[in-house]
Amino acid sequence: MRRIACVALLVVVVACHKPREKYQNMAATGGGNADRGEQLVTTYGCTSCHDIPGVNGPKGMVGPSLGKMAVRPYIAGKFVNTPQNMMQWIQNPQRMDPLNAMPNLGVTPNDARDITAYLYTLK
Ligand code: HEC
Repeated sequence: MRRIACVALLVVVVACHKPREKYQNMAATGGGNADRGEQLVTTYGCTSCHDIPGVNGPKGMVGPSLGKMAVRPYIAGKFVNTPQNMMQWIQNPQRMDPLNAMPNLGVTPNDARDITAYLYTLK
C-alpha cells in the first residue's frame, strides 16, 4: 500500500514538474508564451545565425549557440542575463552594444517577450 502511494506521489511530482517550470518562466518574462516563442525563432530566422538545440534549422555559426541560455549569467558576455535585458537585446542588440554583429531584426515587444520565455526553457 505504501509503495503504491509512493508511486502515485512520484507520478504527480513528475507530471507537475513541466507546467510549473513554464509558469515560472511566464512570471519572469511578464507573461511570455514559450511555445509561441519557439515558433518565432524560426519565423525571425534566428537559426540562420544561431544553433538552437531542439529547433530544426540551418544551425548558423555567425552567432553563438543559444543552448543553456536560461542558466548563463551574461548575455553577449556583457549584460546580466535578466528577462528585461534579454527582451531589449532581442529587440535591438545594436542599441545595447553598437559594435556587436547581431542585426536589429525588428522584433516586436510582444514577440521578444515570447522568445525570452522560450530561451529560458533552454537549461
Ligand atoms: C545575422 C546573424 C544573427 C541573427 C539573424 C540573430 N543573431 Fe543573435 N547574435 C548574433 C551574434 C553575432 C551574436 C554575438 C554578439 C556578441 O556576443 O557580441 C548574437 C548574440 C545573441 C544572444 C546572446 C548569446 C550569448 O551567448 O550570450 C542572444 C540571446 C541572441 N543572439 C538571440 C537571438 C535571437 C532570439 C534571434 C532571432 C530573433 C537572433 N539572435 C538572431 C547574430 C545573429
